[in-house]
Amino acid sequence: MKIDVLTLFPEMFSPLNASILKKAQEKQLIDINIINIRDFSKNIHKQCDDTPFGGGAGMVMMCDPIFNAIEHVKTAQSKILCMSPRGIVFGQSIAKDLSKFDHLIILCGHYEGIDQRVIEYFQIQEISIGDYVLTGGELPAMVIVDAVCRLVPNVIKNESIENESFTNDLLEYDQYTRPSEYKGMKVPQVLLEGNHAKIDEFRKNNSLNATKKNRPELYEKYLKEKK
Ligand SMILES: C[S@@+](CC[C@H](N)C(=O)[O-])C[C@H]1O[C@@H](n2cnc3c(N)ncnc32)[C@H](O)[C@@H]1O
Repeated sequence: MKIDVLTLFPEMFSPLNASILKKAQEKQLIDINIINIRDFSKNIHKQCDDTPFGGGAGMVMMCDPIFNAIEHVKTAQSKILCMSPRGIVFGQSIAKDLSKFDHLIILCGHYEGIDQRVIEYFQIQEISIGDYVLTGGELPAMVIVDAVCRLVPNVIKNESIENESFTNDLLEYDQYTRPSEYKGMKVPQVLLEGNHAKIDEFRKNNSLNATKKNRPELYEKYLKEKK
């Protein structure tokens, strides 16, 4: 999978060059390119933003540099996304859908956002990472890149993906590792006994309880779909 991220602040993206995503890029399972929109401004001062028509606070990212940047990377297969608090709210099922594309282009807004004509012309899917407003689309873009890339085949073990939170609308069960006792706190005995049927049963109940407590709406959905 190839991902082109279009941003005015490429220096913010170093976290994508660490850990699992770093290894996935080294193995050429994913190809992440951070592209500076400013390089596509034809303005002598490399200007990329201007004041909003109709008045109001802040600056708006201009059409032309973004148009040029998108045209530079776009192919017939590209899926184009824009980070925006006005977008549909991102979740695991959207991550799964996006992981099936060969090429994603992710546009990061900044300031007051992006001239609407860009969104309409390229039929861009606006995506929000939650109901709050950040200073820019760079952190949301990294959230999308991380969540999508770990679902690309062979980036992490299939087994890890099959049994994690949001599979079948449930949150994952509690996890423990060595030592079996720490500051007087013991790991549940069933996890130490090697009886896999009992471990599965324990984990299923634990997962149901965690979902009921932390995400009652998911728990209700799970019960409804089970009927
Ligand atoms: C300060 S915000 C603009 C907010 C916009 N004026 C509004 O009220 O909807 C600047 C940029 O940050 C990004 N952004 C902020 N919050 C976001 C969120 N919750 N999800 C995705 N992107 C977000 C978007 O790219 C946005 O264009």
